[in-house]
Amino acid sequence: MNEILEKKQLNPTVKLMVINSPLMAKKAKPGQFVIVRVDEKGERIPLTIADYDSEKGTVTIIFQEVGMSTKKLGKLDVGDKLHDFVGPLGTPVEFSKDTKRVLAIGGGVGVAPLYPKVKMLNKNGASIDSIIGGRSAEYVILEDEMRAVSDNLYITTDDGSKGRKGFVTDVLKELIEKGNKYDEVIAIGPLIMMKMVCRITKEYNIPTMVSMNPIMIDGTGMCGGCRVTVDGETKFACVDGPAFDGLKVDFDEAMRRQAMYKDMEKKALEQYEHECKLGGIL
Ligand SMILES: Cc1cc2nc3c(=O)[nH]c(=O)nc-3n(C[C@H](O)[C@H](O)[C@H](O)COP(=O)(O)OP(=O)(O)OC[C@H]3O[C@@H](n4cnc5c(N)ncnc54)[C@H](O)[C@@H]3O)c2cc1C
Ligand code: FES
Repeated sequence: MNEILEKKQLNPTVKLMVINSPLMAKKAKPGQFVIVRVDEKGERIPLTIADYDSEKGTVTIIFQEVGMSTKKLGKLDVGDKLHDFVGPLGTPVEFSKDTKRVLAIGGGVGVAPLYPKVKMLNKNGASIDSIIGGRSAEYVILEDEMRAVSDNLYITTDDGSKGRKGFVTDVLKELIEKGNKYDEVIAIGPLIMMKMVCRITKEYNIPTMVSMNPIMIDGTGMCGGCRVTVDGETKFACVDGPAFDGLKVDFDEAMRRQAMYKDMEKKALEQYEHECKLGGIL
């Protein structure tokens, strides 16, 4: 159990791992996540279930190496075991039968949590336009997978090195202004991207689902670390989400909360990299 069966580098900072976890693979649903611990003293890392195969008993995670814990995770190899792999956590995402026309928008590693939802909608017979974006060509992930489950796929990069130059929101505006009608928009990516998407979809009154990634500790609704304000009410992303009605989320508060531990995270990473380098010399 918890053995890494496959490891792939998707871009300079994003890795995919297929984990042997038969019980979780049987229960997992789109929209849910796992909490990973690399070793006994490791931090808990919440990661979306990017894919699962109940027959093979596998769960796929896709993660960006941003700080100490995700860098440690990225150093593991095929055959290694994760110390803890807990889940599925969170509320699965459900779509109404009337959701026939969907616009899916993913930014950076946000395409990983977007993919299982689009895959499910495609299986349900919905017609899907997708926009995926990245800083530059190498940061656009899961292009083939997203193309396979979308009717139309648009790609944007900030620097124009792949697809259209610009942001995912530029294509969003264009598609709406061209007269395309959508029953629902799903947007997953950096908080600022989701905020900007919602600003546009609010104008056109299009229901919009987002997936929040606040700091999480226990993942079971007890610590309060993951609180987000939705429609003026306090919600816990780990049990009430992580998917929420984007038109009602207080993004400014979420951004302030996400920045709270920046200094401590930076220090932990510096110390880890320093220890790694010393380890290499000794
Ligand atoms: C429900 C959920 C699903 C997620 N799915 C994915 C995914 O599929 N792929 C992916 O790359 N990332 C995902 N994340 C974000 C991921 O958990 C963080 O990037 C990771 O914990 C960073 O850890 P670190 O120690 O490497 O970085 P740190 O240096 O500790 O932090 C860098 C940044 O990561 C975020 N972060 C750190 N710790 C946590 C934590 N415990 N909970 C939430 N965010 C944290 C903060 O924004 C922080 O500024 C998800 C987060 C949540 C809450
Ligand atoms: S992570 Fe503790 S309440 Fe959600």
